[in-house]
Amino acid sequence: MVTRVPPEPFRIKMVEPVHVPDQQERERALEAGHFNMFGLKSADVYIDLLTDSGTGAMSKQQWAAIMMGDEAYAGADSFYSLKKAVKDVLGFDYTIPVHQGRAAENVVFGSLVKEGDVIPFNMPFDTTRGHIFNAKASSVDCVIEEAFDRENPHPFKGNVDIAKLEKALADNRGHVPFIMVTITNNSGGGQPVSLKNLRDVSAVAKRHGIPLLLDAARMAENAWFIKNREPDCRDMTVAEILKATMDTADAITVSCKKDPLVNIGGLVACRTEEMYYRVVPRVILFEGFATYGGLAGRDLEALAVGLREMVNEQHLTHRIAQVRYLGELLSEGGVPCIQPIGGHAVFIDAGAFLPHIPQGSYPADVLSIEIYREGAVRGIGLGALAFENVDEKTGERTFPKLELYRLAINRRTYTNSHMEYVAETIVNVYKRRDSIRYGLEITYEPPVKGLKHFLAHLRPKNL
Ligand code: F0G
Repeated sequence: MVTRVPPEPFRIKMVEPVHVPDQQERERALEAGHFNMFGLKSADVYIDLLTDSGTGAMSKQQWAAIMMGDEAYAGADSFYSLKKAVKDVLGFDYTIPVHQGRAAENVVFGSLVKEGDVIPFNMPFDTTRGHIFNAKASSVDCVIEEAFDRENPHPFKGNVDIAKLEKALADNRGHVPFIMVTITNNSGGGQPVSLKNLRDVSAVAKRHGIPLLLDAARMAENAWFIKNREPDCRDMTVAEILKATMDTADAITVSCKKDPLVNIGGLVACRTEEMYYRVVPRVILFEGFATYGGLAGRDLEALAVGLREMVNEQHLTHRIAQVRYLGELLSEGGVPCIQPIGGHAVFIDAGAFLPHIPQGSYPADVLSIEIYREGAVRGIGLGALAFENVDEKTGERTFPKLELYRLAINRRTYTNSHMEYVAETIVNVYKRRDSIRYGLEITYEPPVKGLKHFLAHLRPKNL
């Protein structure tokens, strides 16, 4: 049964016309883009669900705030607007703006991580893993086993398995600069982490004298799930839950292009002057002075407003229901989706959708191509192409446990009828899935580990 979605809690003031490319245009676009969704032009896409990052619509309050931008190099008013919003909404005393999430990762990992270090995570996202490799360190996935079971309805599939965490700490004593938890867990299906679990992880971290960091890109959605799924938190507001979530952490990295509702921006926030001064030199080297971090003053103003708007419960209720609506329409059509449906995206089990395509031939990316062909809808494969490990010496390939295809929903951008079109498109592909009889091979691969799926050139090959 498909649940009714609340109507949009906004009205539309400005429209962005989009073109529906015909079949010939789609084929040409696929060829020109080397069959990689990152190679397509936006103009060749009707509904673009490649990412929910930086693709949302700003509110009129955010656009108005842009006019208040103070572009001073140091100590701009706009920095203090942002610092105050971070303190009010998240509770941290030290705020460092950066241009986006991976910049926050660069400054934090580059400052706090040494060669040979090991970072226990629930699961890192792809750029985060890239930065860990880049620092010549590694990560250990400590997410609960339920995360790998598609149908398992566990309400907090992003949770850390405390026994796995304790083992990772014991195995790597002296080499763990911090523990990190991604909320919500993007790589595992946009699944939330409970407040109780974060408190347990925080207690373990304190006992070992190791800081706990959060990758908090989707922290407001995570807080909404806690309110709706964790009985002890039912009577708290999302804003209160978010503060309580932040209280478990020593520092956060944030891609503000997600929940904080801006098209560009990121931040690092921490509690102590000591950590601030460890991180800030690298901000000045790579981003800009500590009070603007690669952003314009106007971007800082839009972000300060976005941070306050992101905890609006009507906004979150609509958003998460819209994502669930798409997931339910797909599930009703037989399409195997990760359950429960995630906060920012619907994740289709591409391995189960196309079981006759071996994982080494990249079924999630074949599915991307077929869904684009069918309806000019763009999503993204998050399977072997993104996450396989290839042993540099033997060439042996290790595949990720999940072979997923993701439809990420832009915030405040598409209507519920767009979701219906997307579902219809994908159900049509599902009906003809047995006739999809090809895999993909790589004809160009970038030399940097962890970035293959962004830049690879692909070619269909018959199985
Ligand atoms: N952390 C998480 C959990 C993310 O999902 C992302 C980006 C980042 C960090 C990096 O942030 O893009 O601002 O540099 N995720 C996007 C996605 C790109 O499509 O899921 P960024």
